[in-house]
Amino acid sequence: MTQVNQTAGSVNTEHAKLLAWVDEVAGQCKPESVYWCDGSQAEYQSMLDTMVASGSAKWLAKDKKPNSVLVLSDPADVARVEDRTFICCEKEEDAGPTNHWKAPDEMRAILKPLFDGCMKGRTMYVIPFSMGPVGSPIAHIGVEISDSPYVVANMHTMTRVGTKVLDVLGADGEFVPCVHSIGSPLEPGQKDVAWPCNADNKYITHFPKTKEIWSFGSGYGGNALLGKKCFALRIASIMAKEQGWMAEHMLILKLTSPQGVTKYIAAAFPSACGKTNLAMLNPTVPGWKVECVGDDIAWMKFGKDGKLYAINPEAGFFGVAPGTNYDSNPNAMESLKENAIFTNVGLTDDGDIWWEEIDGPTPDHLIDWHGNDWKPGTDVKAAHPNARFTAKAEQCPVIASNWEDPAGVPIDAILFGGRRASTQPLAMEASSWQHGTFLGSTMASEKTAAAAGGLGELRFDPMAMLPFCGYHMGDYWQHWLNMGNTPGAKMPKVFYVNWFRKSPDGKWLWPGFGENSRILKWVCDRVDGKGDVTATAIGNLPTIDSLDLDGLDMPAEDLKQLLTVDNAEWLKVIPAMRDHYAKFGDKLPKELAGELDALEARLKA
Ligand code: OXD
Ligand code: MN
Repeated sequence: MTQVNQTAGSVNTEHAKLLAWVDEVAGQCKPESVYWCDGSQAEYQSMLDTMVASGSAKWLAKDKKPNSVLVLSDPADVARVEDRTFICCEKEEDAGPTNHWKAPDEMRAILKPLFDGCMKGRTMYVIPFSMGPVGSPIAHIGVEISDSPYVVANMHTMTRVGTKVLDVLGADGEFVPCVHSIGSPLEPGQKDVAWPCNADNKYITHFPKTKEIWSFGSGYGGNALLGKKCFALRIASIMAKEQGWMAEHMLILKLTSPQGVTKYIAAAFPSACGKTNLAMLNPTVPGWKVECVGDDIAWMKFGKDGKLYAINPEAGFFGVAPGTNYDSNPNAMESLKENAIFTNVGLTDDGDIWWEEIDGPTPDHLIDWHGNDWKPGTDVKAAHPNARFTAKAEQCPVIASNWEDPAGVPIDAILFGGRRASTQPLAMEASSWQHGTFLGSTMASEKTAAAAGGLGELRFDPMAMLPFCGYHMGDYWQHWLNMGNTPGAKMPKVFYVNWFRKSPDGKWLWPGFGENSRILKWVCDRVDGKGDVTATAIGNLPTIDSLDLDGLDMPAEDLKQLLTVDNAEWLKVIPAMRDHYAKFGDKLPKELAGELDALEARLKA
């Protein structure tokens, strides 16, 4: 078939397999034209212009948010759709109890008629992208085909796109093929809608054997920006297991002490636990510097010295907007000041964006994310709770100068955490990599705010990977253990933190935000073999004296509660942990079952 390149010039690749695949997908999807993305700034601008011209985006006022647009999605397409997300490996048991599974042939039979002619009347964009600095030995390449200019623009910000990627790919390099369609073909003369999608037929599918991603029907976030959750976590977690590395749902922080000593920490938290805020934290401990390497995903491979070296495979932030403000996350606010794409937030009368809990007074009038008039007191939210901003990481004032180092950064510590009103202390240290793996595998948040002092119902989200691990979670834990048993491995120390502990009368015991740097400092001390600990049944806790609490005005009683382990309370959690583990049957590594037995025994001792 003929390829139509709407930019001047030609397709900049001689990669026969890639060319054949693009031809094949075009033959199936039958777009009006095919466009190979070059990754240029001009191309980014033309995508925004295309969206504005078609009515899917609106320019924000130049004096408020320069070069930024607002996009309002279809109300039926506002978030990742976990119940429509499938792992299509040959055997169901390999997908495990935390994934939806369909046999590959069965899924291909479902997808074939859906993709047949699905791009009629639209442009098919071919987006070569690198997850990670282009050419980095830790990075991997994907090529996303999409019929959405919104996806192209977002991929420009979230990944490294274009000709430079094709150059690295060469004539026969490996790439992950990612096909995305909004599933909304246009008949000749048919008028388009602002946010075309196919709300009734969404499929986000992953094929582990062939490392392919096929996504249909949604144009939103992780359903459509296939480099993020689909590739960088689900497919990459499979590649990582096969190749001996780690693809994790972790932020990456760089910490520098007043003495100029640098440490790197990766951290996994379930959603709604302040991950983006921690990734960009302004420390309150004098003299310490905290910089951001990544806010969502870490790819870690062994270096020659046996340490894990991490890159942030992404190039931008796709952050949740509501709740973000100059108190909770000033660096995110600075990152989104210009060149940003805002999705499903409110629009002020003077052409700026607005969302719940943003700084300043609530405007008297807005256009809400449904496109309706809104004023204070209206009983719907102005911004959708999952409204997002897309902004380049390089715009973040605290992005680390070496965040794009192709060699990655050596990880000294891994933090796990959840939202727990009781039971879980402010901080603790695992006694070994195996114990750390146990802590990650039993990571949990309370489903709802716990009644004062009581035990909330726990939602286990192992390593914050529940919706993102592309294979059986039991095998994934085994992979963690195997990584630690790799000859010569110098694994990071593992810690578990809880910023959300409450007093029996329901008040936060820990101030959180920038004050979390005090715990990070203790973590750095522990990595250096310093800082005192108290041994408890669950692990080593900081002694009060080992924490730098200078300038923090906090009742001694609160600190005591934050650092207390109540064995009787912990014993009440053991059955929930056992139920959680029981779901993984024979695939639960015996070492982890042993850790749980040992914990129970220590609690009873
Ligand atoms: C995200 C998520 O959007 O974890 O990063 O859901
Ligand atoms: Mn995430």
